[in-house]
Amino acid sequence: MAESSSGRIDTVMHEARLFPPTAEFASKARIKSLEEYQQIWDRAAQDPEAFWDEAARSELHWFEPYTEVLRWQEPFAEWFVGGKTNASYNCLDAHLTTERADKIALIFEGEPGDQRTYTYRQLHAEVCKFANVLTAQGITTGDVVSIYMPMVPELVIAMLACARIGAVHSVIFGGFSAEAIADRNHDASAKLQITADGGWRRGKQLALKQTVDQALEKSPTVTKCIVLKRVGNEVSMQAGRDFWWHELMEAASADCPATPLDSENSLFILYTSGSTGKPKGIRHTTAGYNLYAKKTFEWVFDHRDDDIYWCTADCGWITGHSYVVYGPLSAGATVLIYEGAPNHPAEDRFWDLIERHKVTILYTAPTAIRAFIKWGDDHVKKHDLSTLRLLGTVGEGINPEAWMWYHRMIGAERCPIVDTWWQTETGGIMMSPLPGAIPTKPGSCTKPLPGIIPDIVDHSGNSVDANQGGWLVITHPWPGMLRGIWGDDKRYQEQYWSKVPGKYLAGDNARRDDDGYYWIMGRIDDVLNVSGHRLSTIEIESALVSHPAVAEAAAVGRPDDLKGEAIAVFVTLKGVEPTDALRNDLKQHVRKEIGALAQPDDIRFTNALPKTRSGKIMRRLLRDIAAGRQTVGDTTTLEDYSVLASLQHEE
Ligand code: WTA
Repeated sequence: MAESSSGRIDTVMHEARLFPPTAEFASKARIKSLEEYQQIWDRAAQDPEAFWDEAARSELHWFEPYTEVLRWQEPFAEWFVGGKTNASYNCLDAHLTTERADKIALIFEGEPGDQRTYTYRQLHAEVCKFANVLTAQGITTGDVVSIYMPMVPELVIAMLACARIGAVHSVIFGGFSAEAIADRNHDASAKLQITADGGWRRGKQLALKQTVDQALEKSPTVTKCIVLKRVGNEVSMQAGRDFWWHELMEAASADCPATPLDSENSLFILYTSGSTGKPKGIRHTTAGYNLYAKKTFEWVFDHRDDDIYWCTADCGWITGHSYVVYGPLSAGATVLIYEGAPNHPAEDRFWDLIERHKVTILYTAPTAIRAFIKWGDDHVKKHDLSTLRLLGTVGEGINPEAWMWYHRMIGAERCPIVDTWWQTETGGIMMSPLPGAIPTKPGSCTKPLPGIIPDIVDHSGNSVDANQGGWLVITHPWPGMLRGIWGDDKRYQEQYWSKVPGKYLAGDNARRDDDGYYWIMGRIDDVLNVSGHRLSTIEIESALVSHPAVAEAAAVGRPDDLKGEAIAVFVTLKGVEPTDALRNDLKQHVRKEIGALAQPDDIRFTNALPKTRSGKIMRRLLRDIAAGRQTVGDTTTLEDYSVLASLQHEE
């Protein structure tokens, strides 16, 4: 791709709407005003180590105190050096001596409608038992345990049981293939596999154990496999290798004190796709990650003890790690988890869940919100959503019109929306409105959290001016940061710390507006270069999504002799007919919204866009299709291969 040498990106977006928190919300919030936020942020920025030191002392349990807050040898960080703590203890035991002991920790609803709840005391007992099961199977501190399960309470129990004894969990999302599991197991040298006989998805059983059987043929390091009975189907059990969860649990004692672990003991590995090449095992450790997940959960979701909190992410993603398990449970929250699909048995399942469980905080992804918009408002209107007080999004930029729909239709113009920018690598939320303090702008993740010091730089590493797009970097280490890529320090160094010396390169482009608000402009690799202007994908896509006929849009560059790159867009419609007239109308619409420069050259209508299994649009594949090339990069993270096939077929 041709690039101007400075790396600056032009902005064409004009979004001027501002939504301050209501006085009612602000008055009860932990952080109540922009001034208060600014004070805390300034104090943290002046001396981040002192700030995190104070937080770590009050928020975590220490079996032994640390002697040094941060040891930084770029790019390797150690936080709370010499201290001993335990994430499972902080999530469970810490509450047992408080009035939260008998508070509900988990509310589970399976896709078929089965329900279970666990209090903190009950969850603690289950975790202790399973930790003893793992120990009895020979698992000890530092061993890697691979988890491939449906979104059921036992997944949370398995994670916390690993954390309890210092084993390192590697959760693999239940939609991945046998090949993907085997690759990850091999890379991590996993010793034990945990899975289930199946899980429910859109009324069908996922054959998890069968997939694991294939994976284990190619995972020589894995010698044991524990199988949860979830759906009750027939599975093959290999003698000596495979054991039923319930049989092992029957014999296990509920007495298992948490192991005091070094602050920097690896807590988990989570594999995330690189744009090409093999997936990276992002490594997070115990104390810094736990502190960061807890603090950011409390700040961003403004957690109160009577909240019913629902993060719709699966534990196969970082969002599930940080904001289903470690953040909310450390904070003593009541967490709803749901096993299945949002459109089973009907498209109103989420709203039905919220109404019945009286959910107060909903945290979901833009891809889900766009699906809800497409499915229509009637599904929402059938339900009473008046318990909701706060909404959140994560995973991609949210187009301003989708934001407005979320605000009106789900939030009834009452609930603040926290658009949270972060990454698997960052461990927790980095930029987000604090809901009682920071007025929101649709499409902006607003401002950095306390202790986080971002900047936007050009390719020489110099800060760019307001409203100039450039590379988003973080200029100072933070406790939740990744500690590396499992087994590959070189790749870690190259990928995140080499292009801009001394700063963490997030891999996203962003701009800061005149009010100091951040706007994420998309992945660095996705920038379009049209007639010497570098344009961001999200701005063109948001202009399209603001047209009433459009449900989703993806913009990519395709080689063009004259302009360098021409703009190709892929559009899914809200049930209207794709016609040439509409195509022209959309071109004019973009021209009117953001200018002639950004007018698409090609518009292709499609029934669906290629997405990762966590719902991100895979623009890389669309770039190949727009250019008429065969896709060469890694496609193992693609959610639905038929989408790619049908797009290729149309050409
Ligand atoms: C994108 C998910 C815009 C971004 C927690 C980032 C976002 C990548 C947002 C990380 C947001 C995530 N606005 N873009 N609020 N949140 N992204 O590792 O490109 O699955 O770098 O972590 O998602 O994705 P990951």
